[in-house]
Amino acid sequence: MGTAIERFDDKARRAFDSFGRTEVYRGELLRHPVYTRVLHWAVALFFFLALFSGFGIYLPWLFRWFTPFFGGGPLARAMHPWFGLGFVACFGLQMLNWLKPMKWTAADSAWTRNIGKIFWGGEKLDPPDTGFFNAGQKLQFWEIVWGSVVYLVTGIILWAGASTFGRWPVAISYVLHDISAVIMLGGIFIHIYLSTIGEPGTFQAMIRGAVSEAWAWTFHPAWYKEMTGRDPRQAYEEARRTRDR
Ligand code: HEM
Repeated sequence: MGTAIERFDDKARRAFDSFGRTEVYRGELLRHPVYTRVLHWAVALFFFLALFSGFGIYLPWLFRWFTPFFGGGPLARAMHPWFGLGFVACFGLQMLNWLKPMKWTAADSAWTRNIGKIFWGGEKLDPPDTGFFNAGQKLQFWEIVWGSVVYLVTGIILWAGASTFGRWPVAISYVLHDISAVIMLGGIFIHIYLSTIGEPGTFQAMIRGAVSEAWAWTFHPAWYKEMTGRDPRQAYEEARRTRDR
C-alpha cells in the first residue's frame, strides 16, 4: 500500500513542478515542493472559509456580521458543508503526501519529554535528532487528521439531519463537531505564530519552498545533516565565528 501512495505522490509532485517553480539559492535547501505548497494553502483557504461560515451558524448573535461575506445567513449555512468537504479532501491529499515524514519515532518521544528545555532552555539548536518535522508539528498534524475524521462523520450527520439519523446522533454530533473546531482552532493559532514570528525564516518554506541552511541546522538538525552530510553543530559554530570576526 505504501508504494502505491508513494507512486501517487511522486506523480503529483512531478506534475505540479512542471507548472510551478521553486528557486533554491546558494546557502538554501529545498523544503516544500510546489505540490505541497498548493495543498497547504488550499487546506488553509478551505479551513478559514469553513471556520468563518461556521461561526455565523454556531453563534449567530455574536458572529452575525460574518454572514454577509457569504451572501447572507442561509447561503453561509448552505456553503459551510462544501467548504468543510474541500478542507477534508485537500487535507486528505496532504496527509498522503506527508505520511512518511510524519511517522512518530523514538526521537519524537524524547523531544516531547524535553519540550520545556527546548523552548525555554536557552539552547540555540533543537535536539540533534530532530528530523524533517519535529514532534510538535507531528502532534498537530495527527490532531488535524483525527479532527478531520470527526468533522467528516459528524458533519454528514448534521447535514442530513434528524430526519435521516435521529435526534440523539444529531445532538451528539453538534457537540463533537464544535469541540473539534475549538481544539483545531487553538492549535492553528500556535501554528501561525510559530510559522511566522515565533521561528523566523519558517514562513518562506511555504511561500518560496526553500529555507536557509541556518534555519535548517537550528530547527531541524538531523534533516540538515541528512541533506548536506555536514554536522549541524559544527556548521552553527563556524557561522558564529565568521559573524563575530
Ligand atoms: C495563515 C495561516 C497559516 C500559515 C502562515 C501557515 C504556515 C505554515 C508554514 C510556514 C509551514 C511549514 C513549516 C515547516 O516547513 O516546518 C506550515 C506547515 C503546516 N501547516 Fe500551515 N500555515 C497556516 C495555516 C494552516 C492551516 C489552516 C492548517 C490546517 C488546518 C495548516 C496545517 C499545516 C500543517 C499540518 C503543516 C505541517 C506541520 C507543521 O509545520 O506544523 N496550516 N504552515
